[in-house]
Amino acid sequence: MNRLHPLLKEPVQPADWREGLDRPQALLDYVSEDPEPLMDLAHRPIVSARQFDRAKLFQLCRLAAHYETTPALMQLPLTGKILINAFYEPSTRTRLSFESAWHRLGGDVMSITDPATTGIAKGESLADVAEMFNHYGDVVVLRDSNEQAVYEMLNSLRIPILNAGNGIDEHPTQALADLFALFKWRPELMDDEPKGQGIRIGIIGVPNRMRTVRSLLILLSLIAPAISEVVIICDVEQPFDGDQREELEEKGLRLRASKSLNNELPQLDVVYINSIAWVGDTYEKLGEELRLSAHSPLKDSAIILHPLARGEELATDLDDTEHNWYFAQARGAVYIRMALLTSVVHRVHRVIDTPEQQA
Ligand code: CP
Repeated sequence: MNRLHPLLKEPVQPADWREGLDRPQALLDYVSEDPEPLMDLAHRPIVSARQFDRAKLFQLCRLAAHYETTPALMQLPLTGKILINAFYEPSTRTRLSFESAWHRLGGDVMSITDPATTGIAKGESLADVAEMFNHYGDVVVLRDSNEQAVYEMLNSLRIPILNAGNGIDEHPTQALADLFALFKWRPELMDDEPKGQGIRIGIIGVPNRMRTVRSLLILLSLIAPAISEVVIICDVEQPFDGDQREELEEKGLRLRASKSLNNELPQLDVVYINSIAWVGDTYEKLGEELRLSAHSPLKDSAIILHPLARGEELATDLDDTEHNWYFAQARGAVYIRMALLTSVVHRVHRVIDTPEQQA
């Protein structure tokens, strides 16, 4: 380019309202601090969204909001600790937000982004790799397209492992990021006895093929009283596994399936969309014809969530609208992972505790 690019003539754009501190501060003010539920997570593997209850979910989101509103921490609780970030499948957000979270807490990171650079290429078992991890780090974050891999490692691990996506099974930390975004949007979703009819959520996706949707539904079932209905929008005849739907309905979630996106959109308060399922060494595209754009018949107040990476299902003309909560959702993933890592590796204390009280 033989002329100065126009973008180089202006300072970078300041953060907009979705990145401001008012919303995490409001969430922080809405929930009373109680470290007990998080102390229960100390030194535990985190593999499934089923491991969370309301108290743990709310306190994790509270701690995440504390981190979001306190960018410069006075103490770095993970100084001297090492995270092993083992990603045997591509990732932008999960790997980098875990690394960002760990660095912001003062720790060091070792990353594996290609299993072919480890003994796995020579036939080494996951159990033996896990045995080595015990000596090299303090916690493992694993993404693997084989849903059993995390369980194979668990047998040999004496340090906690966090599931960053295991095949089409679960992605619990993504679901935590989803709920953190929802609570910043409407803290009253955490009320024991919500007022009014509750919000209507549309999920454009396939619960038995997408790990993000599977884990999200499990966490949504914890706030079932605040949700009038979850509409699963897809063109698959059987979107649920065997007892998946029954499990969610037993917890109080009201579920309905629909194939007609534009008929549902005008009634939805939250629209969650995903069209990718990672299977084996590649991904399937599901429901790509179910697309959102600035011309979709959305409620004015509706927010859109997407775990990303996006494809053609989510038009970029939505990025500059107030429906766009997907970038804020991805940003919040750093803080919710900070909260989870602190709880699992460090053991939380009251935020106001002095180091002497914590000793
Ligand atoms: N949301 C999510 O899992 O994105 P990545 O695949 O980029 O980690």
